[in-house]
Amino acid sequence: MASSSTGALFSSTVVLMCLLCSTTEAKDFLVGGKTDGWKIPFSQSDSLNEWAQVSRFRVGDSLVWKYDEKTDSVLQVSRADYLSCNVSTPITEYNDGNTKVVLKKSGPYFFISGAKGHCAKGQKLIVVVLSSKHIFTSGAPASSPTDGPAVAPTSSAPYSLNSGLMVMMMLGSLVGLVLV
Ligand SMILES: *[C@@H]1O[C@H](CO)[C@@H](O)[C@H](O)[C@H]1NC(C)=O
Repeated sequence: MASSSTGALFSSTVVLMCLLCSTTEAKDFLVGGKTDGWKIPFSQSDSLNEWAQVSRFRVGDSLVWKYDEKTDSVLQVSRADYLSCNVSTPITEYNDGNTKVVLKKSGPYFFISGAKGHCAKGQKLIVVVLSSKHIFTSGAPASSPTDGPAVAPTSSAPYSLNSGLMVMMMLGSLVGLVLV
């Protein structure tokens, strides 16, 4: 009796701690998922935005680009310049071949290649950074900020169910400890 309630308390504490620990450390994301990821994609399924959509970016994380600085660059641009592949007035230009950008605030970031013609061929990237308040409620991947309808966060229910269950488990094991 005593050991099972202690076990329940222990496991719920571990679950709680892991929920916290997995969300606090900042990550570096290698753009495209590989060292030569910053290039014209072979196909739609190989596109940089496919990669971005299955990644979860949070405030404090960083993007890292590796590329040949003689032939390419990274431009952070406005949404309009992203859509039109206009390289003439970037917000920031990076051309050192090993670029790291810290994602300091939530919302969309737009990047295009500075190499002539590359953006039009798909070497472009939208990264949507989640604010920390999304951590426990949104299970949906970062949706693209284009003008389509917003994706409903359908997967938020299991999270609240889980935490409700956890609270019940913890209360149960506390009661168990008191009774013993
Ligand atoms: C690019 O943007 C600049 C500044 O907004 C503008 O003057 C220029 O005409 C644009 N170029 C093209 C090709 O749209």
